[in-house]
Parts: sequence; structure tokens; C-alpha cells
Amino acid sequence: MDVDARVRTDPAGALLSLHDVEVRYPGATEASAQDISFDVRSGRTLGLVGESGSGKSTIGRAVLGLVPISAGSMSYRGEDISHRDQRVSRRLSAHLQVVFQDPYSSLNPNRTIEQTLVEPLLVHSALGSREMRDAAAEMLAEVGLDEAALGRYPAHFSGGQRQRIAIARALIVGPELVICDEAVSALDLSVQAQVLNLLKRLQADRDVTYLFISHDLDVVRFMAHEMVVLRRGEIVEHGAAEQLISAPKHPYTRRLLASAPVPDIERQHRRREAARSFAED
Ligand SMILES: Nc1ncnc2c1ncn2[C@@H]1O[C@H](COP(=O)(O)OP(=O)(O)O)[C@@H](O)[C@H]1O
Ligand SMILES: [Mg+2]
Repeated sequence: MDVDARVRTDPAGALLSLHDVEVRYPGATEASAQDISFDVRSGRTLGLVGESGSGKSTIGRAVLGLVPISAGSMSYRGEDISHRDQRVSRRLSAHLQVVFQDPYSSLNPNRTIEQTLVEPLLVHSALGSREMRDAAAEMLAEVGLDEAALGRYPAHFSGGQRQRIAIARALIVGPELVICDEAVSALDLSVQAQVLNLLKRLQADRDVTYLFISHDLDVVRFMAHEMVVLRRGEIVEHGAAEQLISAPKHPYTRRLLASAPVPDIERQHRRREAARSFAED
């Protein structure tokens, strides 16, 4: 493992720390993640990149407490969360939210957008119903959707709009850390650019921290301050994003860079063009 010394540890600024974490699924012959160590610093984005099956989602699930870790430790704001009980999980869930790839399956088709957005507030806030509706409308505006969306169902919206709604649901309780697991992977390139810009703007406005997971190194590069490259459940490279992209040390990282579906420079250009023509503000 090749760790850039400059980004290795900064316990003071770390919101989330993983130390030699291992995840082994029941019945599996080998671990799906092992020796995973990194810090996610407050207000920053740590990108987790690697090809399909490299263990990205497994690490995200471990952080969320959805799968147990079989070795190592995790801490959140210095508190050990390696083996959290229900009480700790419940408290953490207000600070820790997630946006998944597929808003078709993560948004309940039978619930209005208002019901979807209010749900986390019912758990984590003491707001009355009028205030919750106002909060939902405000959150929708923040992600670029009109209040009229509140009464509609997910089927009414495009993929990009649905992902905005999923982001609104994740952010409405004011979490500190949002795990984005392939959050734009199902979207067209121009829509990807809009949603990535939205996530960046929300980070600037709210100082939210992202653990940003994607198989697409180009997307991670656009979002992340630091990057961790995963291969078969292990970290092969970890460093500042720009440095890692401009001077990849591991052959696997170079392969990931080379395997972008269209030449990298052209793709960056198209993304910037798309971002310009669909400027958020
Ligand atoms: N619930 C599970 N039970 C057993 N093995 C799993 C489970 N989920 C994922 N895996 C295995 O763990 C490895 C990593 O998977 P995953 O974390 O989903 O990768 P990624 O998100 O990078 O595509 C894969 O080999 C996958 O088959
Ligand atoms: Mg995955």
C-alpha cells in the first residue's frame, strides 16, 4: 500500500476514521474489504474508486453500520463506532446519510415527495406538520425543484430530478457526513454534471462532508479532495486527488485512468461544457 504521508492522518480534523477495517460476509471464503484505513476530514470529499466488485459499497455499508466489521476499528468524531449498539446507531443516523445509485428503487413509488422528505424529519426532529412541510419545500428549492413537486409521486420525475429528491431526503436532517454510492452512475453525462455541481454547491453552502463512491475515476476526480483506490478489497493507492491523477503510482490506477469510456481530456471538456450550459445559479 502506498500512502501519501501528507494525507495519512489528521486525527484533529477527521470526522470519520477507519483503521485496518475488514469486512467478511457470512459464508464468504475471503474478505470483501481488508486493511482499510483512511480519514475523512470535515467539510471535504474523500473519493473511493475502483472497478466493480472492488469493495466500495462494502466499505460504505460498514460505515453506515449495515454490515458488521470483522476486524479493525472505526471512529466518528473520535467515538468508537466499530460495534455500535442500537442507541448509538440511532443517534448516528441523524449525522450520517446516504444517496444510492438508483432513485427508482430508493424512492418509494407510492409516497408523495412530501411524504418522502418528511419521513426523516418525523424521526429526527420535533417539528410540527406545517413546519415539516415548509422544511420540505425549502429543501426542494435548495436542490432546484419547485414546491409543486411536494404533491407528486416519483414516477412524475426524470432520473436527474429523482436523484435531486434523494439528495434532498438525505440532507433535510442536516447530516454531517453523506455517503454517495454511485450517486450519478445511472445518469447521462450532462445530467451527471448538473447533479455533481449541485452536490458541490451543497457542500459549499452547508459544509457537509462526502464519502463519494464511484467506479468512474473521472467523476471521483471532479468531486474529491482526496482519493482512495481500491482493488479486490484492498487499498492500492491513497492521496490528494489531483496528485494521484497527475502522477498515479500504481499500475491499477493507471489502468483505471486509461479505461475511461472516452478519452479523458475530451470527457473533461464535455463535462465542463455541460456544467456551463446547465449552470445551477
Ligand atoms: N451480501 C454479500 N454477501 C456476500 N458477498 C458479497 C455481498 N455483497 C458484496 N459481496 C462481495 O463483496 C465484494 C465487493 O462487493 P461490493 O462492495 O459490492 O463492490 P463494489 O461496490 O466495489 O462494486 C464482491 O466480491 C461481492 O461479490
Ligand atoms: Mg457498489
